Amino acid sequence: MQLTDRINRIQISPTAAVIAAADKLKSEGVDIADFGPGEPDFPTPDHIKQAAIKAINENKTKYTPTPGVMSLREAICAWHKRELKSSYEPKECVTNVGGKHSIFNVISVLVQAGDEVIIPAPYWVSYPDIVKYTGATPVFVQTHAEDGFAVRAADVEKAITPKTKLLILDSPSNPTGGVTPPEECEKLLAICKKHNVWLMGDECYSHFTYGENKPFSVASLPNSKNHVIIIGSMSKTFAMTGWRLGYTLAPAEIVTATIKLQSQSTSNPTSIAQYAALAAMTGPMDSVPQMLAEYAKRRRRIVDGLNRIPGITCGDPGGAFYAFPNVSSRLGAGLNALAKDSAQLATMLLEKAHVALVPGEAFGAPGYLRLSYATSIERIDEGLRRLERFFSRVEAAA
Ligand SMILES: Cc1ncc(COP(=O)(O)O)c(C=O)c1O
Repeated sequence: MQLTDRINRIQISPTAAVIAAADKLKSEGVDIADFGPGEPDFPTPDHIKQAAIKAINENKTKYTPTPGVMSLREAICAWHKRELKSSYEPKECVTNVGGKHSIFNVISVLVQAGDEVIIPAPYWVSYPDIVKYTGATPVFVQTHAEDGFAVRAADVEKAITPKTKLLILDSPSNPTGGVTPPEECEKLLAICKKHNVWLMGDECYSHFTYGENKPFSVASLPNSKNHVIIIGSMSKTFAMTGWRLGYTLAPAEIVTATIKLQSQSTSNPTSIAQYAALAAMTGPMDSVPQMLAEYAKRRRRIVDGLNRIPGITCGDPGGAFYAFPNVSSRLGAGLNALAKDSAQLATMLLEKAHVALVPGEAFGAPGYLRLSYATSIERIDEGLRRLERFFSRVEAAA
């Protein structure tokens, strides 16, 4: 069959592939210690669920305006102002079918063949494919474990060419948990201004930060508005992955263009999800620090546990809910090697140790593994035991 060049340029999300392989084993009755999904294991807070039920009972089940109901756009601007110190108006806000859809829309209206988009690596799996789908070229800028995977502005500047249209800043980052500090964000903004490049801040994990790191938006920087696009999502902050509700904050011209695209594709996000999101934006936020406190405990447990396993080194992630250990000392062709690369190691871990995780290759980081700790302490302990056994048994066999 002859499919289009644009669909042939992209691949199915590798994280979805890991989840599918783990689910297949689970359906066969295998007990999997599952560090695969980047999805909160907490339920959606009750007041949000009740708002959706109320919307159904009140028959708020019809089309809404394409960008979402005005009360939600207003509430998102007010929430973002309060939580992250920005100053957007509803005409600069559009709601989308999840943050991924927001990113897809923005990239679709801003870049095309011949353009370059700078993506710090390790990167979230969907950025390069969305860029490639538009015909533009992803350009990767390496971040480093020794900086906690923060983006270095000087490295970004070196990668800028006359073709660069957009820089994606994912902080806290999936997969590394890396947080780029506000001072470095300021430098990134200055570089973007100087070279006329858009700065897209993906804030899906904004409220999950540890230690010194605090929620921060590049939209809070002075004189940033005409250079910055913000992507937000209900998915992680409010444990609402399945509701599919994200948003874009950007200059009105960009927002209007994405509304045009959305009017010819999905139309509005689901009406009842919009009312649920309205409750999230206007209601109590106590569930967020509660989830964060639990993630913080799990982070300590998993990072310490990983570092106890010979051949694994793992830094403290500054945010999000992923551990991103380096396992390169146990890869290759040497006597001590467990597998030729981290992709093969991840497959072996799933099949032999029944531990599901995502290999670094998926994120442009061979030699690493991503473990989501959005799972209980008990399952973390069980997974660590299996990893420890696997790493020592094979070492003994080698
Ligand atoms: C960095 C990052 N951005 C955006 C998203 C999109 O999330 P959603 O489409 O559920 O809002 C994800 C989801 O995993 C993510 O990790």
